[in-house]
Amino acid sequence: MKALVLSGGAGTRLRPITHTSAKQLVPVANKPILEFGLEAIRDAGVTDVGIIVGETQDEIRAHVGDGSQFDIDVTYIHQPEPLGLAHAVLTAADYLADDDFVMYLGDNLIAGGITDFVEQFRREPSAAQILLARVRDPERFGVAELDDAGHVVRLVEKPKEPVSDLALVGVYLFSSRILDASRSIEPSGRGELEITDAIQWLIDAGDPVQSTIVTGWWKDTGKLYDMLEANRIVLDSLEPRVSGSLDADSEVQGRVVVEEGAELINSHVRGPAIIGKNTRLENTFVGPYTSIYHSCEISDTEIEHSIVLEETVIRDISRIEDSLIGKQVTVGREPRKPRAYRLMLGDHSRIGLA
Ligand code: DAU
Repeated sequence: MKALVLSGGAGTRLRPITHTSAKQLVPVANKPILEFGLEAIRDAGVTDVGIIVGETQDEIRAHVGDGSQFDIDVTYIHQPEPLGLAHAVLTAADYLADDDFVMYLGDNLIAGGITDFVEQFRREPSAAQILLARVRDPERFGVAELDDAGHVVRLVEKPKEPVSDLALVGVYLFSSRILDASRSIEPSGRGELEITDAIQWLIDAGDPVQSTIVTGWWKDTGKLYDMLEANRIVLDSLEPRVSGSLDADSEVQGRVVVEEGAELINSHVRGPAIIGKNTRLENTFVGPYTSIYHSCEISDTEIEHSIVLEETVIRDISRIEDSLIGKQVTVGREPRKPRAYRLMLGDHSRIGLA
């Protein structure tokens, strides 16, 4: 069995972060989302991994390399345009050949990994095996309709009026029949070759399609709120560890990781929280559910329930909540008169002033 990880696409809902970066590399609890997927695949015993890359391919290749750091063997497959999940499958047709494969959307996170799901498919092979989860906002996802016996009868991508609350999770198991299906469908209204339509084609053709409902948490990290929620969930299971240094006036409370080379000066971190390598906190309070990535400098600030990416500087702000702050950003006060907000913001930035 092979794996196909989808790390192309545009990431429009996480702009401006994704103007310059791949959404799959945004960290949750200081670990890029994509790494959770690669580790879940490896833990399920699949080591032959094709990664679909698009315009952010340089960044993904630089981060994942040949896969040896994750004990997998990576082949990159370039998709020139993000024309849909089934289009990504067709782009990988030569790589996939006749093999069964697990397809994993690179922006999805699933508690407990995918080992049981993969083993079930190995025991009872089918044309497709899908994972479903009950959600409050099914219109944001592919939605499944089951019959009384629990068989999938219909799949619709982002329906305006969903017939159920069962969303398709971004992990799928397929035989090579999905290639026939993907070749046979037409682009949807949004111009994409939808994997939901390809699976529907299999159902209509009488191929066996199995489904399992996940009971643990699952997150599609496509939007800011989902990122913060995923961050919260992962931080909650952090193993506390202080590898950096705290001065006599600093304190950490609860589930906190302070990574190597991080420095706390007159600062207080209340977990769950993680402070990245070589990050410096001075006269600062970091509250629950916050991840500060590496080489940041934060002083005279209070921050909570937020994610801060690498090499960002924050000075004298009280207080920051519910925020995702990109790489190498500077946020601070200026003594200059007249007192005013002076902003240089990327396209699609969002500012919420108190
Ligand atoms: O997360 C689950 C949902 O994922 C499912 O419920 C939907 O049925 C499925 O269509 C998909 O919906 P999204 O709108 O969230 O898909 P998105 O465009 O965000 O793409 C998912 C991943 O695949 C993301 O890592 C980008 C990558 N991708 C996407 C497209 C369209 C590609 O690599 N190539 C593509 O052509």
